[in-house]
Amino acid sequence: MGSLYRNLIRPVTFLQDSEKAHDRIINLLKFFSQSKRRTAILRQLYSTKDLSSTVFGLTFPNPLGLAAGFDKFGSAVPAWPSLGFGFTELGGVTFHAQNGNKKPRMFRVNSERALINRMGFNNPGAEGMSNTLDEWKARGLWPKNPVGINLAKSMVTPLEDAATDYSKSIDLLWNAGDFFVINVSSPNTPGLRDIQESNSALNQIIDDCSEINKRKGEENSLNPKPILIKISPDLSSEALDNILSSSTAKIDGIVATNTTTTRPTSTPQTEQIFSEVGGLSGAPLNDKSTELIRHIFNKTDGKLPIIGVGGIMNSDDAWNKITAGASLLQIYTGLVFEGPSITNEIVSGLRNKIKEKGFTNISEAIGSEA
Ligand SMILES: Cc1cc2nc3c(=O)[nH]c(=O)nc-3n(C[C@H](O)[C@H](O)[C@H](O)COP(=O)(O)O)c2cc1C
Repeated sequence: MGSLYRNLIRPVTFLQDSEKAHDRIINLLKFFSQSKRRTAILRQLYSTKDLSSTVFGLTFPNPLGLAAGFDKFGSAVPAWPSLGFGFTELGGVTFHAQNGNKKPRMFRVNSERALINRMGFNNPGAEGMSNTLDEWKARGLWPKNPVGINLAKSMVTPLEDAATDYSKSIDLLWNAGDFFVINVSSPNTPGLRDIQESNSALNQIIDDCSEINKRKGEENSLNPKPILIKISPDLSSEALDNILSSSTAKIDGIVATNTTTTRPTSTPQTEQIFSEVGGLSGAPLNDKSTELIRHIFNKTDGKLPIIGVGGIMNSDDAWNKITAGASLLQIYTGLVFEGPSITNEIVSGLRNKIKEKGFTNISEAIGSEA
């Protein structure tokens, strides 16, 4: 299946504008999402073997998830597990619906297996997303695998009111999500990443979201849901350590990392595209994100679960992130360049590595080379 994608589907898809191609794929997956019979077709083609673990109280059938940004509207929620993903992160969702930045805003850098995007959180808003997710549930098509929701700040909300914006979103989406990710690391919303540099601003957001989380739990006679934060790979180590020392006790995990505003050394081929404003993802981000994961694992003595994301293009990249300290993994750009069979390639590769190294389960491998 992998070579079919690489030799036939990818060349045709890559003739189209990057965002248009993405929208077509989402529409196709939306079609497959409409009934159990249709998702079963995908499952036959792409299902992965079991590699289960329990992280922040949730059980994951395998550690590979879909990264935030791919399904911003919750359009294909039932399809993702059928493509072999162990979990899904939907969004980013802002409290207010918004269109995002002017197009074009997503660019492929084929020679580097990378993307540059400045989407600016085009999304249906928390209420719109909540309605869509309720509908999947009402139709009995909600997946068994955990579904997280990535939360971001609305463009119209001033930075000083960010905490209210995030917490109002969590209030509306609490019933739908299994876990929540506070995203303060997108480079495409002016000032958003500054929140990471200010302990008080970040902690205010975490505190307000946690308060809603606790209240919702009490109202529903359920435990509060895990809340994570997602950080940038461009943080200075001082800023990262400040976050870890002031916020670790308040959160259930950390997603490392978002896209980078830095660029690899350009060639005449890539010079023009690298000058596009936005966050870069894919292969060039891999090492940077893995080193950040290693740093976080060591600083927190392996006690804070890490979702490792950034440049995973194959099972070796995935293994390196697990052994550096990630408990779970996510991909976005790897799916674009390698196609849906990447899930099977990665999960099977991880299972083989676990056996080869003499571990009995994935949890033993986490941080083993940190
Ligand atoms: C087009 C695009 C949109 C994205 N949107 C979001 C988003 O809404 N929220 C978020 O936290 N990350 C977003 N991301 C970042 C990804 O979730 C991921 O952290 C990043 O792309 C690195 O992983 P990768 O190298 O596997 O793509 C987006 C990435 C891309 C390429």
